[in-house]
Amino acid sequence: MCGIVAYVGRKVCQPLLIEGLKRLEYRGYDSAGIAVIDNQNKLHIRRAVGRISVLENALSHGEALPKAHIGMAHTRWATHGAPTEANAHPHSDNGGMIALVHNGVIENYVALKQFLSEKGHTFSSQTDTEVLAVLIGDFYAELKAKNHVPHGVSLLQRAVQAALHQVDGTYGIAVICQEEPETLVVARRGSPLIIGVGQHEYIVASDASAIVEHTASVIYLNDNEMAVLHPDSFRTSTIDDTEISPVISQLENKLEAYGLGDYEHYMLKEIFEQPVSIANCLRGRADAKEGRIVLGGLTEHSRELMRARRIILTAQGTAWHAGLLGDYLLEDLAKVVTECTYASEFRYRNPIVEEGTVLIAISQSGETADTLAALREGKEKGALCLGIVNVVGSTIARETGGGIYLHAGPEIGVASTKAFTCQCVVLTMLSLFLGRRRYMGQSQCQEIIAGLCAIPDQMQAVLAQSEQIKEIAGKFCDRENWLFLGRGYHYPVALEGALKLKEISYIHAEGMPAAEMKHGPIALITPEMPVVFVATRGSQYEKVISNIEEVRARGGKVIAVATEGDTQMRRYSDHVIYVPHVMECLQPLLTVVPLQLLAYHAAVARGCNVDKPRNLAKSVTVE
Ligand code: M6R
Repeated sequence: MCGIVAYVGRKVCQPLLIEGLKRLEYRGYDSAGIAVIDNQNKLHIRRAVGRISVLENALSHGEALPKAHIGMAHTRWATHGAPTEANAHPHSDNGGMIALVHNGVIENYVALKQFLSEKGHTFSSQTDTEVLAVLIGDFYAELKAKNHVPHGVSLLQRAVQAALHQVDGTYGIAVICQEEPETLVVARRGSPLIIGVGQHEYIVASDASAIVEHTASVIYLNDNEMAVLHPDSFRTSTIDDTEISPVISQLENKLEAYGLGDYEHYMLKEIFEQPVSIANCLRGRADAKEGRIVLGGLTEHSRELMRARRIILTAQGTAWHAGLLGDYLLEDLAKVVTECTYASEFRYRNPIVEEGTVLIAISQSGETADTLAALREGKEKGALCLGIVNVVGSTIARETGGGIYLHAGPEIGVASTKAFTCQCVVLTMLSLFLGRRRYMGQSQCQEIIAGLCAIPDQMQAVLAQSEQIKEIAGKFCDRENWLFLGRGYHYPVALEGALKLKEISYIHAEGMPAAEMKHGPIALITPEMPVVFVATRGSQYEKVISNIEEVRARGGKVIAVATEGDTQMRRYSDHVIYVPHVMECLQPLLTVVPLQLLAYHAAVARGCNVDKPRNLAKSVTVE
C-alpha cells in the first residue's frame, strides 16, 4: 500500500526521504512524490509516475530541490484516480501553503469536495487526499483570519484537527506548512504511523523499515492520535487535543534484516530463510523433553483459553490459509471446535459470538484493515481476542490482549512465504499448548514437539532441490491455467500453492480439495493443464492416488509432491518432488516449500517482477 516517510530536524532531508521511500518500495506503489520547505520558507513539491528512480531522475535533471530540513515523501498505490502525476502525493491546498501526504481513504470526500468547491476552491486531481489538503488549507486560512489560536500553539495543528473532525474514513497523514517551517504534524486513524525519535530530529514513517537506519527508538501512534514535531520538542495528543504521554519503544529488527544479501529477490531469500525463521519461532517455546509448550504471550489468558468452547481464526490471503490449517490442527490435536473465517466477511455478517469464544487474528503485517476490523468486531461482541502477528508493535499486536509473535524477521517480498510457515508453526504450538491441557498425553505431545523441532533441518533437504524445481517450473511456465490439489492438511497447502503462483506469475491457478475436482473442475483437465498434487504418505494417500489417476486418464500433466522413498509415485506422475517423511500434522511445513519454489521459478522464467507484483501491495490497509 501507500508509504509515508517524513522528516524534521537538522539534516538535509532529501537523501533521507528518498532512501526511506526505497525501503518502503516493497509495499507496492505506482507513483511517488516529495515535498520540502527550503530555508526561505518556500514549499516545493515534485511528483512522478512509476518507480522511485523516475522521481530521483527528475530531481537530478532539471527538477532539483533546494536544501531543506523538513519534508515528506510518499509512494502512492492508486485508490481514487489513476496513477498519474496529478494524482500522486504530496498534495497541497489552493494557495500552495501546506502540503499533505496521506495513506488511507477519505470516505466522505465527495461531499467535502462539493462543500469546498462551493467556497471557491479548485482541484487539480481526482484524489480524496487533495480534498483533505484543501480542507486543511481552508481551516488554516480561517483560523488565521480569526486570530483565535493562542500564542505558542501551532496554527497548523489546529487546522489539521479541525479538518480531521470533518473526515469519515481512514488516514495516516503528515502535513507541513510554509508559515511554520519547523513543524511537522502527523496523525492517524486506521493507517499505521511510527515516529522515530532521534537527536533533535524525528523521522515518521508508515513502516519501521524506513526508520531503522536512523534510530531504534520509536513511538507507535494509536488510532485518533496525532503528534506535533519540532526539532527541539514534540507533543502527542488525541485528535481532540487531550495530551498523551508518549511510550517510547525499541525496534526489534536491525537494518541488516531488511537487506537482500546475495539473493536475487527478497522472495527467494525469504523462502531460504525458513529453516532459520522457524527455529527462531520455536526458540524457548517448544520443549520436546518435557512435552511442554511455553507461550509467554498467552500466560494471562491460559485459563480462558483452556475453557474455550469455540475458536474463531480470522485473516486474509496467505494468513487465512495458515488459519485454515490451524482449524484442522486445533480440532485434531486440541479437540476444540474451530472455524476459520475471512476477516472481511466476519466483520459484516453480524457473527454470533457466544460465551467461551476466542477470536484469533492472524496477520504478518498486523495492519491488514479487514483483519483489524474483524478483531474489533470480536472485541465488541465480548470474545477474548488474541493475535498471531509478525510485526512487533503493529496495530493488531497492540490491540489484542495477548498473542504469539512469529519472530520470522521482516518479510519484504509481497508474496508471503516465511510468515506462512511460521504461522503454521505457531498454530501447531497453540494446538499442542491447548491439547496438552485438555486431552493430549505427554508422550504424544513429546513426539510432535520433537517432530516440529526437526523441521528446520528437514526443510534444508527440500530447499536443496530448488534447481530441479526450477526445471519443472520452466517446462510449464507458459501454461495459463494450473490446478493445485490436496486432501486434509494439504488442502490449505494447495490453496497457498495456487495463490503464490497467481500473485507473482499472473498464471491463473486454483487450489481445492482433491476430491472436489470431480465435482466440476475436472472438465478443465486437458493435456495442457499442469495439476500439482500434494500426495505425501498419510491417511488419505490412496485416495489422492485415485485423484491422480483421474487426472492422468484425461491427459493432464501431474506434478506430485511425495514422500521420500515413494518410488511408485514416479509411475503416476510426470514429475515428482520429494520431501522427507514427517508426521502428518507437520507435513504442510515441508510440502508448501516446493510450491513456493515452483511459483518463484515460474514467475522469474516469465520475466515477472517477483518482489513487486503488479497491482499488489504488501500490506492491505484499505478495505
Ligand atoms: O499482513 P497480512 O498477513 O495480514 O496480509 C494478508 C494478505 O494480504 C497476505 O497474506 C497476501 O495474501 C499475500 N500477498 C500473500 O502472499
